[in-house]
Amino acid sequence: MKIKVVGILLALIPLSINCSLAQVKKAQHRPVSGTSVLRGKIVYTSVCLPCHMADGGGVQNLNPPLVKTSYVLGDKTTLIKIVLNGFNEDVEINGNTYSNAMTPHDDLKDQQIADVLTYVRSSFGNKASAVKATEVAKVRATNKKA
Ligand code: HEC
Repeated sequence: MKIKVVGILLALIPLSINCSLAQVKKAQHRPVSGTSVLRGKIVYTSVCLPCHMADGGGVQNLNPPLVKTSYVLGDKTTLIKIVLNGFNEDVEINGNTYSNAMTPHDDLKDQQIADVLTYVRSSFGNKASAVKATEVAKVRATNKKA
């Protein structure tokens, strides 16, 4: 009896993996839209929120805010690299320095990075253009060689 149940469960695993792969494929072909922002919020909540906070306000002297900073609104390549490589350069952001280090997030998929940056660039009072998965892929490709 038990063995049968386990057998059925094991048979279901490849099915569910196939399903989620199909979903990712579909998502990559969708044009950038509100769905990207919605997906990005989920990535933000699980990955970035512990440091940058739900409102993007950061933590004083530790983690910088993501509200209208030159990094968030500026060059997308630099922004994508911050997520891929992490960031620890003791830079001044809006007149403050932040002593914490940002960990690299190159384990995230191109689409996830595109989504989270699209979410950040259109939230917290920011109004900047979306980031596409193809843009992340390009930066990742040259990033590896460096
Ligand atoms: C471990 C805490 C931590 C996590 C997790 C984290 N960050 Fe950061 N982030 C930092 C710190 C600290 C800095 C500033 C580092 C410095 O001063 O050199 C920073 C800097 C930045 C900057 C550039 C400075 C600015 O404020 O505009 C951006 C953009 C950014 N992070 C976005 C993100 C995004 C998007 C995520 C999620 C994918 C994320 N961070 C996850 C801690 C974190």
